[in-house]
Amino acid sequence: MAVQKTTISELKDHVGEEVSLQGWLYNSRSSGKLVFLILRDGTGLCQCIVEKAEFAEEKFDELKRLGQESSLVVTGTCREEPRSVGGYELSVTGAEVVCEATDYPITPKEHGVDFLLKHRHLHLRSQRQWAIGKVRHTVIDAIRRFFNDNGFTLIDTPIFAPTAGEGEQTLFEVDYFGQPVYLAQTGQLYLESAAMSYGKVYCFGPTFRAEKSKTRRHLTEFWMVEPEVAYIDLPGLLELGENFVSFVVQQVLEKNRGELETLGADIPHLENIKPPFVRMTYTEAAELLKSDKAAKFMAEQLESFKARKTEIEKHIADIEAEEKSGGVKKWKREKNARMLIELRTELEELEKKIENNPKHAKLAAEFNWGKDLGGSDETIISQMHDRPVFVTHYPRSAKAFYMKTDRSNTDVVENFDLLAPEGFGEIIGGSVREDDYDYLMKRIDEEGYDPENYSWYLDLRKYGSVPHGGFGLGVERTVAWITGEKHIRQCIPFPRMMDKMYI
Ligand code: 4AD
Repeated sequence: MAVQKTTISELKDHVGEEVSLQGWLYNSRSSGKLVFLILRDGTGLCQCIVEKAEFAEEKFDELKRLGQESSLVVTGTCREEPRSVGGYELSVTGAEVVCEATDYPITPKEHGVDFLLKHRHLHLRSQRQWAIGKVRHTVIDAIRRFFNDNGFTLIDTPIFAPTAGEGEQTLFEVDYFGQPVYLAQTGQLYLESAAMSYGKVYCFGPTFRAEKSKTRRHLTEFWMVEPEVAYIDLPGLLELGENFVSFVVQQVLEKNRGELETLGADIPHLENIKPPFVRMTYTEAAELLKSDKAAKFMAEQLESFKARKTEIEKHIADIEAEEKSGGVKKWKREKNARMLIELRTELEELEKKIENNPKHAKLAAEFNWGKDLGGSDETIISQMHDRPVFVTHYPRSAKAFYMKTDRSNTDVVENFDLLAPEGFGEIIGGSVREDDYDYLMKRIDEEGYDPENYSWYLDLRKYGSVPHGGFGLGVERTVAWITGEKHIRQCIPFPRMMDKMYI
């Protein structure tokens, strides 16, 4: 009888059976008569144990010296082993090497960011990147599910656009048969016209911004989902936003608990992501930033960073002393090497935080009403809360032309940003749209845009204009927040950033 092919994630259904797994060698070690192959197959990791006594010497040697990331098909008997990675093991009865890999460039030793980005095609196989990719998949699936199940119609908006949607500073110009056009910064303006046909719509696709800032939260190509709803007001939009974000987080908790554990994500924090979120106006946020409470929070944070730094330095010194003392087993040396990478990365981050904390505290204390919230301001506000925070009613002068002027205070607009906790800042930007022809015309004029380019958009305010609004959520910032990943570039398979395009 042919041996049943299965996957590592399905091993639980095959205990006691002989099965075959197709995958790649993630890691291996040997101890005389045994070789322990850690196989990965895209669904998980499994330890496969090869006993010398069961194999011809040549075969045993081939498996023993097999290089990291060689591809192979392993046959063996499955057994439950809670102490083993993934909880199951295979006692190997046969193994066929498909492609032998030698000198795989990514090893457990420390590699710089540049090196890993150049080797992104291989780095995607690392456990961390793999787990982030699985979470991203669930986030995208949950996004579609939420809107499809709540009466929204998907509208595919164009990538080539003749005008700016989100300000002219971040436009990517493309030569379109001799005409300058731009890569889409948003699908919103098109969605607004579709909302007048379907009521509730959304678009979801790649979005392009020529961001000239090299930060850990900006990409030049990212994925954004944008819902747009006719007959909705600001409280209605906030409610939609908090229900949507909570649903996405709960789906990840349900489907990716193992991946979240691998990533060291803050699971209790995620479990707490339920409506209602915190609500404050921009004016209240500005007051909070300048308050004694914020100053005290920043001072305490600085102290906790310093204490953690001392702790890490001691841990590093202990490991280095152990290594120097000699006689450390190979598996322990590998474990130590991995631990040192993690500790040194955290140390580097802490040093940056210790350096930046006083600067950010000063910026916050000197915050002036009227300017947009900066990245560090958003971080402070979000870190002072354990749930996401909606900041509403920003100054009109700091925001896009299409946002509705608040008729009870014309200095502000009916908009909101959603700030994610744990310091990743804004994950959603949205607003009620200006639905009055004259107000909108005035704003287009103030921005210095040519009204001719927006004539179709203005038409929507002539023919059956209704209160409407929507928002955009950035997939990569959301994935970074959920996974606890520090840099947005790790949250998209092939990142595009300002400074360099790798592969
Ligand atoms: O706040 P933004 O610019 O909003 C819009 O584009 C609106 N037209 C959306 C709408 O109302 N339909 O962007 C929305 C979100 C941000 O909150 C952020 O998550 C993400 O898009 N985003 C970026 N993500 C990565 N890199 C960048 N450069 C980003 N710019 C925005």
